[in-house]
Amino acid sequence: MDNLKQLREKIARLKKELNAVIVAHNYQRSEVQDIADFVGDSLELARQCTEVTARTIVFCGVRFMAETAAILNPDRTVLLPEDGAGCPLADMISIDELREWKQRYPQASVVCYVNSSAEIKAESDICCTSANGVKVAASVSSDDIIFVPDQNLGHYISTQTKKNIILYPGFCYVHHRLKPEQVKLARELHPEAQLLVHPECRPEVIALADAALSTSQMLRYAKASSHNSFIIGTEEGLLHRLRQENPGGFFYLITNSQLCTDMKKTTLQKVAQAMELRQNIVTVPEAVRVKAKRAVDRMLAIM
Ligand code: 13P
Ligand code: SF4
Repeated sequence: MDNLKQLREKIARLKKELNAVIVAHNYQRSEVQDIADFVGDSLELARQCTEVTARTIVFCGVRFMAETAAILNPDRTVLLPEDGAGCPLADMISIDELREWKQRYPQASVVCYVNSSAEIKAESDICCTSANGVKVAASVSSDDIIFVPDQNLGHYISTQTKKNIILYPGFCYVHHRLKPEQVKLARELHPEAQLLVHPECRPEVIALADAALSTSQMLRYAKASSHNSFIIGTEEGLLHRLRQENPGGFFYLITNSQLCTDMKKTTLQKVAQAMELRQNIVTVPEAVRVKAKRAVDRMLAIM
């Protein structure tokens, strides 16, 4: 029996023992996506976590995602297979900085990207993802919005709403390092392809794209499109599902550096180990959880 097969069997056995569900983000390694019960974007994963009946949620993603699952499911055990899987973007804002910004703009509502810590969510009025940021911004009562921590998603939302968005200067290095010159080169190489980029990309890159979409929105777009060739401006893990779901399609990256090292820290070995040892349990202090849940629930109430 090969190693991979053994590992998959071990994980399947542990799933039964733990009464567990395995969820994975679209950026996870292919072999991790393949053993998951559900693979999706941040919004789909958060929604999925409100419907869980299993006792244990094994979250193959990064810490803020597992924290969101823990915020929504205080009675269940949430395991993050790799303890060190974080999100540099989420780490760019501290709670003291957010409090300072709130004092500076007391008239503004705070919308936080889901890529943020539970503490930041607890200090925000409402949360959003890349899939629903425009709707969330339109839903808040005030005209001014402090948007944290991603400047590019915040800027993109500002182009789609009438709200005055005050941008916090955070960024995702995977998307922010994509430059217009690289995009133009990719367009020249594949003139027949549609260009789909994530709203975490720079405004100059989004301006060159056919569409700015969350990861699962890209999957739906490619499936519904009459084109069969696409340049993808997001993390390379998405190509696994794009290729699986569109066997006749051609999918190209803009550069060869569209890789999130934290997303790739989760391996099948790590999944099996965390389940076997019941280790890396993610918890959120109750006072923070209750306040953070308010911001997440408000987002989930928006269709
Ligand atoms: P989505 O899958 O929600 O588009 O998120 C992208 C991302 O950067 C997650 O870390
Ligand atoms: Fe964070 Fe960017 Fe990695 Fe997503 S891709 S987890 S936003 S660093």
